Amino acid sequence: MSSSSSRLTGFYRLSPAERRRRLLAHAGLPAEGFAALDPGALSLDVADGMIENVVGVYALPFAVAVNFTIDGTDTLVPMAIEEPSVVAAASNAARMTRPRGFSAQVSPPIMIGQIQITDLADVESAAATLRLHGEELLGDARRLVPRLAERGGGPTAFEVRPLTRSGPDGGVLVVHLHVDCRDAMGANLINTLCEALAGKVAALAGGRAGLRILSNLTDGRTVTVRCTIDDALLASPEAAGPDVRAQIAAASRFAELDPYRAATHNKGIMNGVDAVLLATGQDWRAVEAGAHAYAARSGSYGPLAVWRERAGGLDGELVMPMAVGTVGGALHVHPGARLALDLAGAHAADRLAAIAGAAGLATNLAALRALATEGIQRGHMALHARGLARAAGATGELVDRVADELAATGDVKADRAREVLARLASPHMVKEAP
Ligand code: MEV
Repeated sequence: MSSSSSRLTGFYRLSPAERRRRLLAHAGLPAEGFAALDPGALSLDVADGMIENVVGVYALPFAVAVNFTIDGTDTLVPMAIEEPSVVAAASNAARMTRPRGFSAQVSPPIMIGQIQITDLADVESAAATLRLHGEELLGDARRLVPRLAERGGGPTAFEVRPLTRSGPDGGVLVVHLHVDCRDAMGANLINTLCEALAGKVAALAGGRAGLRILSNLTDGRTVTVRCTIDDALLASPEAAGPDVRAQIAAASRFAELDPYRAATHNKGIMNGVDAVLLATGQDWRAVEAGAHAYAARSGSYGPLAVWRERAGGLDGELVMPMAVGTVGGALHVHPGARLALDLAGAHAADRLAAIAGAAGLATNLAALRALATEGIQRGHMALHARGLARAAGATGELVDRVADELAATGDVKADRAREVLARLASPHMVKEAP
């Protein structure tokens, strides 16, 4: 992507065709770039090769959130999502963080493979034997993935975790193989390694090999994203900046105290994260599973992002597992996902992790600010009204006129949108009595 600004003022007011033109120029992509998202781009044949029993290709709106600066680089954030408000919320929150934007720290891309060993008579002595052979097993694992090692990745550590001395499965332990997956998400790689090593591990331990599979609790592969917002930018028409700041900090404490609230707080984060993951062809279920396991790692479920007051402003920090890849997986075959990576300039997994994390912190901030001030329904309904106006057939300036009338009356429904449009669009429109 070019280094031009992601601050695309009024982007939301443009037609989809004009938005495409602006984005192609912005990202320096060829004119036919968006064909990757048009009907048929993912052909039925290709889809049939991706999963089983295919009968069609499922479409979702694909959008770009604007205003993001991440580690000093202006970034277009691709999002695929069915929920209104999320893209607007992300863009608005990102605008508030400017000019500093978001800063991200991404850990090395270490994934964990698990080999379960059961039926052990003596777990401790089996664990000791395996630890003695740890370097040898790590060497075996490295020899299985020479190309990954050439790229600077590969197996990095071997860990033994006794789980129980006795029970229905006898003594049980689990071996963790830590693997630096570089730019791959790494599921296939990890599973292949675990399956290849399990026989030798079981024989050394004197037990039976059980499951051989990656763990989605990728607590060694995390992203940390921070941002800071000055009070002036937090202010809303109804509330002064310092009040909004205090309310957002209180909302954060609420999530830290209460798992019921933390789940919803984290849902607001995953709105942004998942939308980026879906657009870029990632295994979003894996990231979801990891996120919630990580949120509960202390034994009680908590928020993935917290907000703290400082003099004159608010600081936010998100930490979460982020197992993403820019090679492999659906990216071989999904043209829309590749376009999304190009638009975002995300050609390495660590950059994609930073972008998904920033999107999550942005949607969290937007949700908390709305909840702390006018509530989320007003903005939500205004966007929903625009959607209904379009679905009823409104185009051009009629979209806003129909939507405004629906929102003003509070009757935001599809049949009402059709009625309002029929009246406003009629050439013989009779002015209603006030
Ligand atoms: C709705 O999709 C997400 C929110 O519920 C998140 C939150 O409550 O923080 C608004």
